[in-house]
This record gives sequence, C-alpha cells and structure tokens, in this order.
Amino acid sequence: TTRPSIPGYTLGTPEVATSPITDAEFALLKQTVLLGDDDVRYLRMAGEVLSDQIEAILDVWYGFVGSNAHLVHYFSGADGKPDARYLGAVRQRFAQWIRDTCAANYDRAWLDYQHEIGLRHTSAKKNRTDGLVSPAPHIHLRYLIAFIVPITATIKPFLSKKGHSAADVDGMYTAWFKAVTLQITLWSEPYVAPSAF
Ligand code: HEM
Repeated sequence: TTRPSIPGYTLGTPEVATSPITDAEFALLKQTVLLGDDDVRYLRMAGEVLSDQIEAILDVWYGFVGSNAHLVHYFSGADGKPDARYLGAVRQRFAQWIRDTCAANYDRAWLDYQHEIGLRHTSAKKNRTDGLVSPAPHIHLRYLIAFIVPITATIKPFLSKKGHSAADVDGMYTAWFKAVTLQITLWSEPYVAPSAF
C-alpha cells in the first residue's frame, strides 16, 4: 500500500501502538453500531463525493473549533495561544482521516491506528507527534464524545453537493455517523480502565 507522506501520519508502520481489542470484540462493536456491508458501500460513495471538498470541510470544522475558546485551548502552545504550526500539522492528518474513514477496511493496521489516534488525544501521546510544549496535556473525554455531533451534522451539506438522490445522501450520512461513532468508541479505550472498556 502507498502511504501518503504527511508528517506524523503513521498508519501501517511499526511505530503505531497495538490495539488491545480482539476480533470477536470488534465484530460485536460493529454489530452494535449497526455497521454492515451497505454502510461500507455508502462510505466508499462518500469518499468519492467528499474527495474534492476536504479543505472546505476542514474550514468548517476548524472554524467551529477556532470560535470556541474551550476547544481551541487544546491547540495552544507554550505561550498559551493557538499554535499555528500545530493546527496546520494536525489539519493534514485530519484530511487524511476523512479519506481513511471512507476507505476503511477495518483490518488490524486500521485498528492499531485507531488506538494510536486515541492515545494522541490522551496525555500518553498528545503533543508528541508535533514536538509541542502545550498547557493542554490531553483532550477531555467529554469533548471527544460530544464532538461526534458537529463532525456528523456538518458533513451532510457536503454529501448532497454532487447530485445524489435523497436516499443515497441519507445512506452516506448514516454510514458516516456509524463510522465516526465506531472510531470514537475505539479512541476512548486508553481513557478508561481495561475492565471498564
Ligand atoms: C488530532 C479527529 C475530537 C483536538 C486528531 C486527528 C484526527 C482527529 C483525525 C489526527 C490523528 C493523527 O495524528 O493521525 C477527531 C475526531 C474527533 C476529535 C473525529 C471527535 C469526533 C477532538 C476534540 C478536540 C480535538 C474535541 C479538542 C479541541 C485534537 C488535537 C489533536 C487531534 C489537539 C492533535 C493531537 C496530537 O498532539 O497528536 N483529531 N478529533 N479532537 N485532535 Fe481530534
């Protein structure tokens, strides 16, 4: 597989953490978010629809984070102000994440990278990838979970921009919601005691 050369993007490399979830546990998690073959087909469709709109989507998400002091705080550098270099570096990986979410095959490399992204939101790995000194050591779990709503709600207008039927737009939107919820669930693992996850 060809890996895009994005600083700090390490999917499929040995540097990535290992996901503790078993295949059986992951199968039950997919079953619980009702993610099936139709959803995977709709994710691929979404990948095509979104591919040339990624910068516009990121403008919306970054606009939301930037206009909320309690969120942009997590992007602050040593001086307590938003760190432009950090914001820019994460943005590139975020763009790749949109593509990866639509192309996901849910294999071990993918699962391991979900664990890695989860760790990068916790004090175990936040700020390390970009070599940052930040007053924000981790993203609070409550915002990680709550962020599912803006990440989902704001995607719909982009899914409907390429002339697809209402049924297809709805299918892509539902699949996106399931895929994001599945990932945030996996990312929450390093926040909680193993017995609680
Ligand atoms: C990193 C997505 C919630 C702040 C990332 C990355 C992605 C992402 C894809 C880059 C992963 C990589 O390194 O390859 C998401 C999604 C969220 C979410 C889908 C919830 C649905 C949040 C929230 C905040 C936040 C609520 C707080 C404002 C950050 C920061 C980084 C990051 C600061 C950089 C972490 C580091 O130092 O490596 N996020 N995120 N994220 N996210 Fe989130």
